[in-house]
Amino acid sequence: MRGPAARLLLIATCFFFLIAHARWHARPAAASCIPKERDALLDFKRGINDPEHILSSWQRTHDCCSWDGVSCSHRTGNVVTLDLSEVTGDDPDSALGGQISPSLLSLEHLKYLGLSWFNQTLPNNNSLEFLGSMKNLRWLHLSGSLFSGHIPPQLANLSKLEYLDLSSTSFSGRVPPELGNISNLQHLDLCNTQGTYSLDISWLTQLYKLAYLDISFVNLTMVASDWPHVLNTLPSLEVLNLENCALPSTNQTLRHLNLTMIVQLNLSFNYLDRPLESCWFWNVTTIQYLELSQTYLYGIFPSSLGRLTYLEYLGFTDNANAATIPVDLKDLCHLEHLYLGGSLSQGNIKDLVDKLPHRTTTHTIPGTGNCSSLFAIDLSNNYLTGNIPSGVANISPILIYLDLSGNNLTGAVPHEIGNSSLGHLILHSNQLTGQIRLLPRNLDVLDLSSNFLSGPLTSHFVPPSLKGLMLSNNLITGRILQSICELKNLAILDLSNNFLEGAFPRCYGMSKMVFLQLSNNGLSGMFPSFLQRCSDLAFVDLSSNKFYGTLPLWIGEMVKMQFLLLSHNSFKGHIPVNITNLRQLRHLNLASNNISGAIPWSLSNLTVMSNRHRNEEEIDLPEFYRSVNNRFAEIFLLVVIKRQVLKYGDSFYDLVSIDFSQNHLTGRIPDQITSLNGIVNLNLSWNHLTGSIPEKIGHMKSVESLDLSRNNLYGQIPPSLSALTYLCYMDLSYNNLTGRIPPGRQLDTLYTENPSMYDGNHGLCGPPLQMNCSFGDNSREKGNQTTSEKDSETIFLYFGLGSGFTVGLWVVFCTLLFRKTWRIRYYRLFDRACDRVFVLMVVTWHRLARHVTAD
Ligand SMILES: *[C@@H]1O[C@H](CO)[C@@H](O)[C@H](O)[C@H]1NC(C)=O
Ligand SMILES: *[C@@H]1O[C@H](CO)[C@@H](O)[C@H](O)[C@H]1NC(C)=O
Ligand SMILES: *[C@@H]1O[C@H](CO)[C@@H](O)[C@H](O)[C@H]1NC(C)=O
Ligand SMILES: *[C@@H]1O[C@H](CO)[C@@H](O)[C@H](O)[C@H]1NC(C)=O
Ligand SMILES: *[C@@H]1O[C@H](CO)[C@@H](O)[C@H](O)[C@H]1NC(C)=O
Ligand SMILES: *[C@@H]1O[C@H](CO)[C@@H](O)[C@H](O)[C@H]1NC(C)=O
Ligand SMILES: *[C@@H]1O[C@H](CO)[C@@H](O)[C@H](O)[C@H]1NC(C)=O
Ligand SMILES: *[C@@H]1O[C@H](CO)[C@@H](O)[C@H](O)[C@H]1NC(C)=O
Ligand SMILES: *[C@@H]1O[C@H](CO)[C@@H](O)[C@H](O)[C@H]1NC(C)=O
Ligand SMILES: *[C@@H]1O[C@H](CO)[C@@H](O)[C@H](O)[C@H]1NC(C)=O
Ligand SMILES: *[C@@H]1O[C@H](CO)[C@@H](O)[C@H](O)[C@H]1NC(C)=O
Ligand SMILES: *[C@@H]1O[C@H](CO)[C@@H](O)[C@H](O)[C@H]1NC(C)=O
Repeated sequence: MRGPAARLLLIATCFFFLIAHARWHARPAAASCIPKERDALLDFKRGINDPEHILSSWQRTHDCCSWDGVSCSHRTGNVVTLDLSEVTGDDPDSALGGQISPSLLSLEHLKYLGLSWFNQTLPNNNSLEFLGSMKNLRWLHLSGSLFSGHIPPQLANLSKLEYLDLSSTSFSGRVPPELGNISNLQHLDLCNTQGTYSLDISWLTQLYKLAYLDISFVNLTMVASDWPHVLNTLPSLEVLNLENCALPSTNQTLRHLNLTMIVQLNLSFNYLDRPLESCWFWNVTTIQYLELSQTYLYGIFPSSLGRLTYLEYLGFTDNANAATIPVDLKDLCHLEHLYLGGSLSQGNIKDLVDKLPHRTTTHTIPGTGNCSSLFAIDLSNNYLTGNIPSGVANISPILIYLDLSGNNLTGAVPHEIGNSSLGHLILHSNQLTGQIRLLPRNLDVLDLSSNFLSGPLTSHFVPPSLKGLMLSNNLITGRILQSICELKNLAILDLSNNFLEGAFPRCYGMSKMVFLQLSNNGLSGMFPSFLQRCSDLAFVDLSSNKFYGTLPLWIGEMVKMQFLLLSHNSFKGHIPVNITNLRQLRHLNLASNNISGAIPWSLSNLTVMSNRHRNEEEIDLPEFYRSVNNRFAEIFLLVVIKRQVLKYGDSFYDLVSIDFSQNHLTGRIPDQITSLNGIVNLNLSWNHLTGSIPEKIGHMKSVESLDLSRNNLYGQIPPSLSALTYLCYMDLSYNNLTGRIPPGRQLDTLYTENPSMYDGNHGLCGPPLQMNCSFGDNSREKGNQTTSEKDSETIFLYFGLGSGFTVGLWVVFCTLLFRKTWRIRYYRLFDRACDRVFVLMVVTWHRLARHVTAD
């Protein structure tokens, strides 16, 4: 499911919630309050932390019927509503917390109780059992609250309850089957109650009035395989959400269909693995919203799909490319969202587009003369062939989003697309040819990367609101035109891997740029001066071009810079000390230039490169990229790590690196560099550095690749090197190092992998080299050597234990680190968000997980 899909889901969820809420909230006018009930409420207030003073209107001197969140029966004066969800809004930061006092039991006539976003402080499994005694409750809304323990089975005593929302609460354990006794229940929402499960859903069959059922994320692995039949006993169901329930794959055929009123059905993220044709829901003609992403349903879409004339949303993405869609969808005049990415096994794009509802056909919505409401179409990654039909972008007057990426589409981008209403045009990873011409006026994002587009960019290439322009990996030639400067909103510009030439035009616009990728072209000129006005720049890659001149001093003003990649150009002069003002810099690559002078010692000011100083304010680049472009950044970083150039997905973010290799740097390696203990890759090879390797190099705990080869370093290898337990590549060759090689299993393993790592240092001795350390060594050093040898033996012992443990680990670690692993899963989860708590939870998890590299 893609961004718009997720958004729609959220909107749909909110919509249903609002309807339900409105239905139950015909508030009676204020009446004066009953003292006993007022006291109960005050008692309740005493148990609650209210840092934001949300309950400030709750004063003994005021009529309790006029307190915020309270309302009374007009007739009797009894409190009938206590709804603090309304007061707290949906802002978890202003949430109430504390203990819910059983004094609420005195509110005998309470019908509506809402406490969303409540943060229960003391863990107390039984704190909500008393709710089971509130006999008159009709509406109970606790979503988003943090409660410990199980869902209290006592809730089943609430025989008048019609609405129960426990979504996104932190209850755990088994969903109590007693809930089946609440025979008046019409709305049951257990969505995303983390860690809850059900062994048997037959209790649902008693809830014959149920119209809304959302048990997404409740673990239903263990339920019997007749679950479609259980659901078929709930004839009033209008909304059925079973997303990500680990439902067992089972026969989806129902002999007799009772579920004739379903409007919204979500079975996504369950491994159903059945033929599409055998599914029961195609005959439910009332369906408006159908979400089947990652269900692994396969085969032919049945013709009854063409008769779901109320359908507005069809989500069928990531289903392993095993489906075909011969059905004519022309009658689906209400279809707004069609997401079929990664699901179809083959097809010609024209045949498929011809089947979609069109702006002008004989089938029309009565009275409008028009049958097409299509708003978003995703046909990506479907092995589609053929030329893009010229009419596709004008299929509907409101088509905003078109994604045909990752297919085998050929030919040119039809120029009719220039007259469309498109905002997002995603055609990357096809075999498109020709030149890029007219573009839609309202385009926000254009992604044509990884095609065979050629020719120069034309001058009318400037949709004014463009935020993201991705043209990498094509055959585009010529200069970058001045007109690009008119893209005032451009935040992402990726022109890498083309044949562009000349200097970047002098621009005065483009001040919103965050992500600039120009690598691997033939661009020349000085460091582009317009960048000085781009105060939000976080990623700049100019590598593998022909830029020349010195690095400007104002480089230090781009304070949000995180990635500065300038390698393989002809920059000369010193590394400007001002570069160390870039406190958020996490990746600096100046390799293969003509840079001379010393390495600034103040590099230690690059605090983000040291684990101890994580900067909370830096923008999350991968997330930013995705928010604009709706897909993961595919970054090719020219990082020579373990002698390989690696392609990065989103995990480029974790590669904290300094690469100054192949320049003319002189002087010593500043000791201060060792405080950058978050660095993963340090490459200073092929320079003229002298002096010794910093004694404290062992403090750079995160280093995985260390290359100091081809310099004039002398002195001994510091024993602390054996403390670098994540090291998986090292090269010290062709220096003037002397003395005994420090022992350590880690270094031995590295040596086995790269036996040339000590080459060209004629003064090195001891294992693993053949040369013995003779006692005839120059005697001045000998004295020093005995002490340091002693040190190194101790360190060896100490870390020998550690590295015995980590030797196995680093192999795994090194191979896993640079894959786009968990992040994909994270985004999928993110998309599945059923409301904000879940989003928050995932984001928190994401922050935690960012540094935990697990597959
Ligand atoms: C809940 O309350 C506890 C204790 O006051 C606090 O530590 C925690 O941060 C709160 N959690 C949230 C999500 O507000
Ligand atoms: C809550 O219930 C769980 C499981 O029933 C139990 O392990 C835990 O000790 C209980 N905690 C309290 C505070 O009663
Ligand atoms: C409430 O429910 C519990 C368990 O479900 C039951 O044992 C108890 O008798 C019920 N109480 C009332 C007053 O119905
Ligand atoms: C669901 O429960 C089963 C068995 O209790 C367990 O093996 C599985 O990991 C759970 N699935 C999830 C997603 O928690
Ligand atoms: C629903 O269908 C089943 C058969 O699948 C049938 O036994 C039952 O009577 C039908 N009606 C209701 C209200 O469950
Ligand atoms: C699925 O169930 C239907 C009737 O409920 C039956 O006709 C069909 O053969 C079953 N299919 C499979 C593959 O078991
Ligand atoms: C669905 O409808 C078709 C034709 O309208 C019918 O043949 C089929 O039996 C129906 N299936 C179910 C499960 O009702
Ligand atoms: C798509 O293109 C790729 C690369 O040219 C080719 O290997 C593949 O067979 C094509 N697939 C189809 C379905 O044409
Ligand atoms: C370089 O940095 C210093 C201090 O950090 C500052 O005074 C100076 O103005 C900067 N130079 C430029 C051109 O930004
Ligand atoms: C490095 O940071 C320190 C403390 O923030 C500051 O005083 C010093 O001037 C900085 N050095 C340079 C060269 O920017
Ligand atoms: C290596 O060091 C020795 C002694 O310090 C010196 O004589 C020699 O010139 C150095 N060699 C190089 C290549 O720097
Ligand atoms: C040997 O150690 C002494 C002091 O312990 C120091 O002054 C001298 O510079 C050292 N020599 C070398 C070659 O490190």
